[in-house]
Amino acid sequence: MSLDQRVDESILPAGSGHVERFLALHEFEPEARQRLPRAVYEYVAGGAGEEYSIRANEESYQRILLRPRVLRSVGPVDLSQELLGRPLPVPVVLAPAAYQRLMHLEGELGSVRGAISHAVPFVLSSNATVSIEETTAVPGSRCWFQLYVQGDRGFTRDSIARVEAAGCEAVCVTVDTPVLGLRPRQLRAGFKIPAEVPLPHAAHLRAASDPGRHSALTWCDVDWLRSVVKSKLLLKGILHPADAELAIQAGVDGIVVSNHGGRNLDTVIPPIEALPDITQQVAGRVPLLVDGGIRRGTDALKALIRGANAVLIGRPYLYALAVGGSDGVARCLSLLVEELRLAMALVGAASLQNLSRDIEWVAPAAFGSRASPGTP
Ligand code: FNR
Ligand code: LAC
Repeated sequence: MSLDQRVDESILPAGSGHVERFLALHEFEPEARQRLPRAVYEYVAGGAGEEYSIRANEESYQRILLRPRVLRSVGPVDLSQELLGRPLPVPVVLAPAAYQRLMHLEGELGSVRGAISHAVPFVLSSNATVSIEETTAVPGSRCWFQLYVQGDRGFTRDSIARVEAAGCEAVCVTVDTPVLGLRPRQLRAGFKIPAEVPLPHAAHLRAASDPGRHSALTWCDVDWLRSVVKSKLLLKGILHPADAELAIQAGVDGIVVSNHGGRNLDTVIPPIEALPDITQQVAGRVPLLVDGGIRRGTDALKALIRGANAVLIGRPYLYALAVGGSDGVARCLSLLVEELRLAMALVGAASLQNLSRDIEWVAPAAFGSRASPGTP
């Protein structure tokens, strides 16, 4: 049976290929909202509690304003670097997100195909609806695997061996989800994972009476994971500099500063605000990635200024996937990367090495407001 036949097509919006009319990341959301079943949209868009964190993640970027340098002879902007021992052409990664076949028929394959257009890594979720073998089999793909550690060490060891055998470059262990947050919008809309949707890395979720329960990880488990993971090991979901230090002591290869897109605990510090203290603590010993609320090239620029080596995006590419499958994801990446390239040129930075924090100015409160989305 082909991959596309495994899922009831009636629950999967097919999307359209006409993505050039989208001119900014936030423009994908209204159309995705129209296309997606309500419960799926609420699952993607919503978050914990009253969603202070979701709003704060985005609004924090709006308080950071830019103070460009001029007359610096900026030619073509170079966004490349080496990250985790490999060349990374642009400092963007697609964040892990569960259940992508609910968003588009292509599911995670659409995301990884979109990621290939910019040669950036795609992080496959533990709760993916396409397997790691199918994902890494896409020519040109670069995959990391996001791991939810579930109780049994034998299962975890086998999962890591499986994804590494499939060609994963990195294992990204999510550490901010000892329990899943309470998400009122998702609950109210009655979001459920349809039985037809495959979960090749999380079949146990179906059996569990409480699908949100995850085992209680500790730093001892991270030491053990370090001994098991042969590829690169990252921890995702760190917000405190003391935890960043513990992660380095445990020998991780990288840290993802994240509050899970405001989906677990409400009123947590926005990652862009947590970043400066963590950057100071880490002092370049391991690369830092950050996600949460990144919606424009200037947001990515601000994260880079504050010490991130790269940013991850979540919801924007999921909405793009919903409206245009792999073409949508590729369009989303193109928009973000071109905005970043322009912003770099306009602040006078020809490469990532030319960025420094003196080009930011923090406003006392949110400055202005976003224009309402156009109708592409
Ligand atoms: C997520 N996120 C997530 N994280 C993770 O480690 N494993 C997962 O399975 C998921 N699943 C998931 C589903 C959906 C629908 C969303 C929106 C997010 C969190 C994700 O990796 C990332 O941290 C946030 O999405 C970043 O915030 P923005 O870009 O969505 O604001
Ligand atoms: C989420 C989980 C699956 O954020 O990580 O929905």
